[in-house]
Amino acid sequence: MEVSNETLLNSSVLANNIPSVGYEFNWEKADPLPIRPFANKRNFNVSMGLNNLSKTPEDWILIENTYLEQTRLRKKYTKQFPDQMLHCFNNKISTEALREFYELVTNYLLTRYPQYFTYNKKTGVIHNEINNEYLPRVAGKNTPKELELFLAANLEEDFLILIKDNAKDPEEEYILRAGVTGFPAGFDPSASHNKPISYIHSPVPQYRERLKVIMGRFFNKLEPKDLWVRHNWSIQTHRAFFNLSSNHGREGEKVKQLRYDEIDFENACFLRVERQIFTRLPKSRANVMTIRTYLTPIKKIKEEGLGEELCRAIDALPEELGHYKKRGAWGEAVKEFLLK
Ligand code: HEM
Repeated sequence: MEVSNETLLNSSVLANNIPSVGYEFNWEKADPLPIRPFANKRNFNVSMGLNNLSKTPEDWILIENTYLEQTRLRKKYTKQFPDQMLHCFNNKISTEALREFYELVTNYLLTRYPQYFTYNKKTGVIHNEINNEYLPRVAGKNTPKELELFLAANLEEDFLILIKDNAKDPEEEYILRAGVTGFPAGFDPSASHNKPISYIHSPVPQYRERLKVIMGRFFNKLEPKDLWVRHNWSIQTHRAFFNLSSNHGREGEKVKQLRYDEIDFENACFLRVERQIFTRLPKSRANVMTIRTYLTPIKKIKEEGLGEELCRAIDALPEELGHYKKRGAWGEAVKEFLLK
């Protein structure tokens, strides 16, 4: 029996029963989620670290008090760094997956945040009441780049679309075919475009031993009814959300230790956290990952009473992972600040 398009689309956990935030919700009063992935952790090796979010799909795309500033910043970056930020492989399945993702997002925004996204049926255009952007509800005749520009200007989340060349081959890896990366955490997104997952993770310590096989299985089994979340963390000693290279220590690279007085702890030292969410699109069967980036001042972590816990985490990172996170540069100074 042929499955209708509508039935297919409805099989996404993100297309059904999404409650609205409610009219009492005020984005300006929504504090960023206090995600502290280093806390209460015993093992600091890399891990899948996935938690099931499919019971609360309304927590997928968030609007918090950073929204106006961040969406403006992302729009600015699309002009400054279009070749790094926006990608879509020019073949049918990649463009169709992007179009499918686009409509999943617009419908989600209209359902979840009806007071901030208002739809004009006559024109087919949605008005974003927070940042005064306009975007079409359906992908229509827009090019992939146009759709990505709309998404970049209306979402704080980055997204990546993964597709296999041969969907039936369990051995084949997923390949990154489209996405918007407005806040790269120290890598150049254009180097990952059209590359398989294991190539992209080649600089990540322990990837081959601890992640490659289980990640492959995870992406093969992921379904539209599933929603999974994981968090990562690192520390950066500058204010930039957009970072093409300086956040990581690469293999064989020497990392110069920073003196305490070389770090601006008041204004430019942050815990950088990514909230990564995974699902599958029902029609194209592409996998999707969304990434929300938080920069929280280290000063705030200290005020929260988590200073000692963060010091413990910094020391507990295995050697290679510590190098990858550039612990050699900021580790001692940050610990001194946290314990002062
Ligand atoms: C369950 C899925 C995944 C897991 C467990 C995972 C794990 C990791 C880990 C452990 C790192 C090192 C930094 C950190 O602590 O986060 C990393 C980095 C990275 N991941 Fe993933 N990842 C996943 C999915 C993906 C996907 C689908 C993509 C894109 C196709 C991706 C792209 C990257 C990139 C670009 C980096 C930075 C690499 C660099 O430093 O050059 N990840 N990932």
